[in-house]
Amino acid sequence: MNASDRVIIFDTTLRDGEQSPGASMTRDEKLRIAKSLEKMQVDVIEAGFAMASPGDFESVRAIAKHIKDSTVCSLARAIDADIDRAGEALYNANAGRIHTFIATSPIHMKYKLQMDPNQVIELAVHAVKRARNLKDDVEFSLEDASRTEFDFMCRIIEATIKAGARTINIPDTVGYAVPEEFGNTMRRLMSTVVNSDQAVFSVHCHNDLGLAVSNSLAAITQGARQVECTINGLGERAGNASLEEIVMAVRTRQDALQVYTNINTTHIVSTSRLVAGVTGFPVQPNKAIVGANAFAHEAGIHQDGVLKHRNTYEIMKAQDVGWSTNKMVMGKHSGRNAFRIRLEELGTVFDHHEEFNEVFRRFKELADKKYEIFDEDLQALVSDTKVAIEQDARYKLSSLCVTSQTGTTPSASIKLVIKGNQQLSTAVGSGPVDAVFKAIEQIVKSSATLQLYSVNAITSGTDSQGEVTVRLEKGGRIVNGLGADTDIITASAKAYIHALNILSSNTEKTYPQV
Ligand code: KIV
Ligand code: ZN
Repeated sequence: MNASDRVIIFDTTLRDGEQSPGASMTRDEKLRIAKSLEKMQVDVIEAGFAMASPGDFESVRAIAKHIKDSTVCSLARAIDADIDRAGEALYNANAGRIHTFIATSPIHMKYKLQMDPNQVIELAVHAVKRARNLKDDVEFSLEDASRTEFDFMCRIIEATIKAGARTINIPDTVGYAVPEEFGNTMRRLMSTVVNSDQAVFSVHCHNDLGLAVSNSLAAITQGARQVECTINGLGERAGNASLEEIVMAVRTRQDALQVYTNINTTHIVSTSRLVAGVTGFPVQPNKAIVGANAFAHEAGIHQDGVLKHRNTYEIMKAQDVGWSTNKMVMGKHSGRNAFRIRLEELGTVFDHHEEFNEVFRRFKELADKKYEIFDEDLQALVSDTKVAIEQDARYKLSSLCVTSQTGTTPSASIKLVIKGNQQLSTAVGSGPVDAVFKAIEQIVKSSATLQLYSVNAITSGTDSQGEVTVRLEKGGRIVNGLGADTDIITASAKAYIHALNILSSNTEKTYPQV
């Protein structure tokens, strides 16, 4: 295969993925994920939407500064202020891309933009030209392309390529497309637009009908050479096309698809774990590639076959996507240097010495309780420590005592430190976790609604750390709190308090679709 068969992998976990309700991330969390994506050799990392909030701007800027091997991209509406802000955030990037977009479907133009098609073309051309004054690498997206009239798509694509767009992205914004039709559209666009050879055609599919990966692959077979996707399929509503599924489909079925990517697939599992841990969106056990059961054979007949010849039931090797790196990496006798190096390999670099010291202290504490420490433990430990030492956190857990016995009502006593003052509360509940949450609420009186409570064992074995996600909603704002501990009641308290701290901070975001 030659260079024209390479599919560019554009990861939008940090932008479209972050648009999942409750999945918003801090600057440091985004940087950790970006480093993991860079290690995986992702071609383009969409780091955020610089204009959305000061936090988003800072995240894009930090990622642009630290990432050297991948192109760093910021989203921008077809508005001067957005484009300038994206250019500013990407100023220090080794390779930076401005990704500008405008809606092109009749329904979006009429009701959302209240513009006629000529006005939309004019804005798009102006936006691309303005972006080209700031960066050589400019992408233009036709939002809601899959519901846009074909002739209009051709007109706006030709005009934006002429204005300087190097990548033309065809999004299935609402997850409406079906594979054959979508693939045909891609082929027809590329053969009809007169200057199509001057741009890379890209796809960006949402998963509302569960077809995001199929639609993306259909577009690739018809000539698209960039796929926009996210780790674990995170994203708006039902999510985006999943990076790991696309990459592994391309690799496993190269015979049928006739293309390749540059991804180092052995980093897939650790990146998936990192994204799940940071966002609080756990991966379902039967999720392709990265689910806990993705390579597990239960039926006797399958086990027998695999033992006799692996290829009887396995089409990929677990090690190729990084499952084999799930080995014991650290123990109680591991030193600071080995610990630091392993964390760096997992994408975590510490800006502050004290932060590293605290993670190391907690690692030793964990190693006393848990004999084998896996990569997943380390990732959870880092996330948990970063949350615990957040300087501006309003609520801090001081101590927790829970009693639960068959035949009695569970009760919990909790001490919280709020702005330096200790407050104590005791409550009963239908179970120990319920009692803990009620005790916290007696102090905080947040009036938030609990939308989701989930516990996952980080590794196997009963000494595993439990990772808890608590999703709270208040006044339309949804946040995910995370906590990890070998004691799942303590992990639950940490996760609830983390969610309350996010709610009480003022880092609300605005998104392009809003
Ligand atoms: O889904 C979509 O249309 C988008 C665009 C902004 C590319 O995310
Ligand atoms: Zn999208």
